[in-house]
Amino acid sequence: MVTNSTRAAHRAEEPGVVELNPIFARPGEATELPKYDFPPGESLPETAYQIVHDEAMLDGNARLNLATFVGTWMDDHAVRLMSEAADKNMIDKDEYPQTAAVETRCWTMLADLWHAPDHEHTIGTSTIGSSEAAMLGGLALKRRWQTARRAEGKSTDRPNLVLSTAVQVCWEKFCNYFEVEARYVPISLEHKVLDGHDLESYVDENTIGVVAIMGVTYTGMYEPVTQIAEALDRIQESTGLDVKIHVDGASGGMIAPFVQPDLAWDFRVERVVSINTSGHKYGLVYPGLGWVVWRDLESLPEELIFRVSYLGGDMPTFALNFSRPGSQVLLQYYMFLRLGRTGYTAVQENSRNVALFLSGEIAKMPAFELWNDGSDIPVFAWALREGHTQNWNLYHLSDRLRTKGWLVPAYPMPDDLPELTVQRIVVRNGFSHDLAAAFLADLRDEVAYLDALTGPMPTEGQRSGFHH
Ligand SMILES: Cc1ncc(COP(=O)(O)O)c(C=O)c1O
Repeated sequence: MVTNSTRAAHRAEEPGVVELNPIFARPGEATELPKYDFPPGESLPETAYQIVHDEAMLDGNARLNLATFVGTWMDDHAVRLMSEAADKNMIDKDEYPQTAAVETRCWTMLADLWHAPDHEHTIGTSTIGSSEAAMLGGLALKRRWQTARRAEGKSTDRPNLVLSTAVQVCWEKFCNYFEVEARYVPISLEHKVLDGHDLESYVDENTIGVVAIMGVTYTGMYEPVTQIAEALDRIQESTGLDVKIHVDGASGGMIAPFVQPDLAWDFRVERVVSINTSGHKYGLVYPGLGWVVWRDLESLPEELIFRVSYLGGDMPTFALNFSRPGSQVLLQYYMFLRLGRTGYTAVQENSRNVALFLSGEIAKMPAFELWNDGSDIPVFAWALREGHTQNWNLYHLSDRLRTKGWLVPAYPMPDDLPELTVQRIVVRNGFSHDLAAAFLADLRDEVAYLDALTGPMPTEGQRSGFHH
């Protein structure tokens, strides 16, 4: 978000008008348009198009962005479908019943992929992304806990959620917005992810659930869902508390079923009541799509579902937003049909092979120490080897790589390791072995440049380039 004060700072330096290149200006047309004031009059569509097109051209090159998890390429058929369906509103299930039917097919397929006990009789929904999906999962946990507590005549004043300090910001938002205490379990060198260790110190009668992440944003590592469930089993044996798990599978929800099919992290683990994933990450769809699925109908309290009639018909809805694009849902269905299990397996395994190749080469470089190797989701992080240099750090390297077009963020790890800086690569579909080799050549050049320095680089004003 650009605040008024940052905008004011920008405005002091930049002209307050957008200039139209004389090549595109028609006779008699304005050659300047205001940047921040509402335009007083009309422009020709060609002119308005050219201005927006030129502005958007200044964005980075998505192919070289090794920071983001979000899909940046789809084939021509998908693009055709997207433009055909650009006008469809997902909420308007009465006007677009077929898009609604496709949405149901998609989350039912996900329930199948994630081993729901009876996948044709469960419940789920599409969302705008994993953040909204996580909020819905969290709200269902909170409501189930409240209902059980009220039935026992107990207080519902102080709900808490147990989660790793390495959760994505959407969980911090959930706890803040919906007034749930976040009980963070710190990561450490011994416990690199939430693994059930010491869980009994965090869980109590006010715990609405535990979040397990399949593909931690900071590093790409899986949290061992079975191990967390076993720790909760032990807690139940000693205290009687029956605490459920929501799996944040924003990335891993679309990797593990194909790359690690025998790993039990999903509804095969009985304590798992809900799972979210991002259709727009390893679901391979353009931005604007998430999914959440519950284990069975009982796992989603009925009173959270609203029924509206003002668009015609009787429409159940469980979402934070009302209107939202329907085209992404059709694109997801296209990808499911297009690739199926074998196709997704081939695509995801290819990304994983590239990640393992890259992490293997980076591990050989004396400057670095790997945190993980990308064998869970195709994402990995590394740190500067202790004692390697006093002259530069990973923020400098990130800046140097940016001059070659590569976006590879450096950022501090969360508590208890904020003094540890890492750099991370997210390998996505389209990042080929060829591109990986080109990246490695640039990485080696930049490290050689930095290693040849005879004095330290300045460190003032360095900031994290973390991308979710
Ligand atoms: C583990 C995890 N959860 C949730 C999110 C939020 O997902 P979205 O961007 O789809 O809202 C991310 C995004 O990177 C993530 O990595």
